[in-house]
Amino acid sequence: MKKIILTGDRPTGPLHVGHYVGSLKQRVELQNSGEYDDIYIMIADAQALTDNADEPEKVRQNIIEVALDYLSVGLDPAKSSLFIQSQVAELCELSFYYMNLVTVSRLQRNPTVKSEIQMRDFQTSIPVGFFTYPISQASDITAFKATAVPVGEDQLPMLEQTREIVRKFNDIYGETLVEPEILLPENQACLRLPGTDGKAKMSKSLGNCIYLSDTETEVQKKVMNMFTDPNHLRVEDPGKVEGNPVFTYLDAFSREEHFAEFCPDYSCLQEMKDHYSRGGLGDVKVKRFLNNVLQAELAPIRERRKSYEKDIPAVYEILRQGTQKAQKAAAETLREVKASMRINYFEDEELICAYARKYGSTSDTN
Ligand code: TRP
Repeated sequence: MKKIILTGDRPTGPLHVGHYVGSLKQRVELQNSGEYDDIYIMIADAQALTDNADEPEKVRQNIIEVALDYLSVGLDPAKSSLFIQSQVAELCELSFYYMNLVTVSRLQRNPTVKSEIQMRDFQTSIPVGFFTYPISQASDITAFKATAVPVGEDQLPMLEQTREIVRKFNDIYGETLVEPEILLPENQACLRLPGTDGKAKMSKSLGNCIYLSDTETEVQKKVMNMFTDPNHLRVEDPGKVEGNPVFTYLDAFSREEHFAEFCPDYSCLQEMKDHYSRGGLGDVKVKRFLNNVLQAELAPIRERRKSYEKDIPAVYEILRQGTQKAQKAAAETLREVKASMRINYFEDEELICAYARKYGSTSDTN
């Protein structure tokens, strides 16, 4: 069986370092492993519209931002097809049929949908499109016969829902769709990078994100203003490492060679943490180190972004070509799906012949 990746992001804002460690970095590694036959990276504008119907301009503008973010982290259009969801109409058609395989109560139980409804205060006025987006996400994944979906941990319930739809479809209509597996980063700190304010999640509205497109100065400012242990008032005081976002970021980003380069007082993160816990290590020193680590990771990303920014029409062309390829693949799956469902009337010679015989038609289709 072919190994195929499909994944994507909603274009509701620029991507941040949480997206980076949570998934983007792994996507680039998977891409460069050469182990995959096809890789599709989707800008999920149609999904973004399910809760932004009144803000199409926001979605429209963030398509290019997300595309630049993708390219700047090292997704390579020669190896990965980058495409725009809304331009692949076949995805909607698949959703229409999958909707018959999912119950309202199952959607209501989807933990991601549940918490997002709460977050957005939808409660009594949930847009139908939003409510059913797990089904549309199943279409995104199955349209490409994806075997692997590298995403953030929050997408687990979506994958579970997709697998259910695949099983149900194959059960009823015969083996057609492929059950995907989720690929999560191994590093625990990468699963859920907190905001710079220590809040559980980076979110644009909370203003606690470090964006991949931030300048060096912006990143430095955000790092130096990060929330730490509020009880660590003097350098001599013992500090808390757990739940301290500065150390969570270091867990996610720092490597041993960073110490030799930027902070030779310590040989590894554990030594630094021990000193902090004991007391005698100030926040400023740790933050300076984190800033160096982050800048080292972000510098090549920034460079690549600059070169793509110089030719925006070329970036749209990359998306156009990726979309063309995605459309072809989705059309092929849709054809198979309709054949399995036996709603491919005009391609079904047997059907036509059978009825021709039944009614004693004189002209034969063959
Ligand atoms: N739900 C994803 C997000 O919130 C975006 C997305 C849409 C997606 N369709 C997908 C991710 C299919 C993986 C596979 O960013």
